[in-house]
Amino acid sequence: MTFVSQTQSAGKSSMAFLLDLLVLLGQLLKIFVETIISWIIPADYKSVAGEVCLITGAGNGMGRLMALNFAQRKAKLVLWDMDAEANKETGALVEQMGGTAFVDVCDVSDKEEIKKAAKRAREAVGDITILVNNAGIVYAKEVLELSEKQIEQTFKVNTLAHFWIVREFLPHMLKTNHGHIVTLASTVGLFASPGMPDYCSSKHAVVGFHQSLYYDLQNFKNNNIKTTLVCPYHVKTGMFRGVTVTHPWLVPSLTPTECVDSIMHAILTNRPFVAMPRLMYLVYNAATWLPMEAQTLCYRFLGADTAIRKFKPNRPYQLEDS
Ligand SMILES: NC(=O)c1ccc[n+]([C@@H]2O[C@H](COP(=O)([O-])OP(=O)(O)OC[C@H]3O[C@@H](n4cnc5c(N)ncnc54)[C@H](O)[C@@H]3O)[C@@H](O)[C@H]2O)c1
Repeated sequence: MTFVSQTQSAGKSSMAFLLDLLVLLGQLLKIFVETIISWIIPADYKSVAGEVCLITGAGNGMGRLMALNFAQRKAKLVLWDMDAEANKETGALVEQMGGTAFVDVCDVSDKEEIKKAAKRAREAVGDITILVNNAGIVYAKEVLELSEKQIEQTFKVNTLAHFWIVREFLPHMLKTNHGHIVTLASTVGLFASPGMPDYCSSKHAVVGFHQSLYYDLQNFKNNNIKTTLVCPYHVKTGMFRGVTVTHPWLVPSLTPTECVDSIMHAILTNRPFVAMPRLMYLVYNAATWLPMEAQTLCYRFLGADTAIRKFKPNRPYQLEDS
């Protein structure tokens, strides 16, 4: 290649770069403007009537509330939980509202059970079009207090189950180019909190899983499979019973209804990410640039450094001997 042709091709590639950059800036501007408009004028809610919605961990807490919300909107429900009695109660509440629910016992920490329950669900109601991976556990113990079994169980439920369940239902969503995958993670999947290393790391892992899946889906032309990553701060469902910071008025815990209202809003407006309360966006951002020593001081000021020590085990698995 001559010097002239080398200079010409360098000129062409910098022109192409500038053009790409201009297109990118234009697209970014469009997204920022659309986002600001959506804050002021929220998008219309999409209809979920007739969709087949699977919720894991539907027996208690947010799983049950989401089931009732979807039932109200005329979705057909598939409810999974290992707590058979509580799950049956959720199913009965759905039916009292005039909804339909296929209630099934499934321990999502067991890959083979997931496969069998997925088959039963398909046979009973058809393919899942909205998947809410909600089941989660916490032991609230430090690294040396946790048993090996508890560490593994946390990852099986909070992280690995998401892989196995998505692998069951994503193929049909891809075939029809229709579906919505919702991941219940946590703010401690974005930045960690003391006293629950297994929980924090399992939630960080599931945030990574969800985000990677999101980007994979963006690579499909005209992708119409939506995803929503949900990261709540402490919610008063009983999962973290007793846990509280020193100045709760500064960072108040969420009620289950408040949290589920925000989750439903995000799902029904196809938002890819929601953290709540809103203050958590600021904390998440600060965690990326505040020196760790400064973050430690803030945790101490808020009492977040020792909040987990007030934890009172409550759920059956938390009361079991390790
Ligand atoms: N409560 C909070 O403060 C909080 C905060 C952030 C994120 N989250 C996350 O939100 C989700 C729901 O939390 P919640 O507060 O409603 O909890 P919860 O304890 O009230 O309900 C969780 C449900 O999951 C079920 N479950 C547990 N292990 C299971 C298994 N192996 N197989 C099937 N079902 C199983 C339980 O039986 C229960 O019905 C969880 O993923 C949790 O980690 C909760």
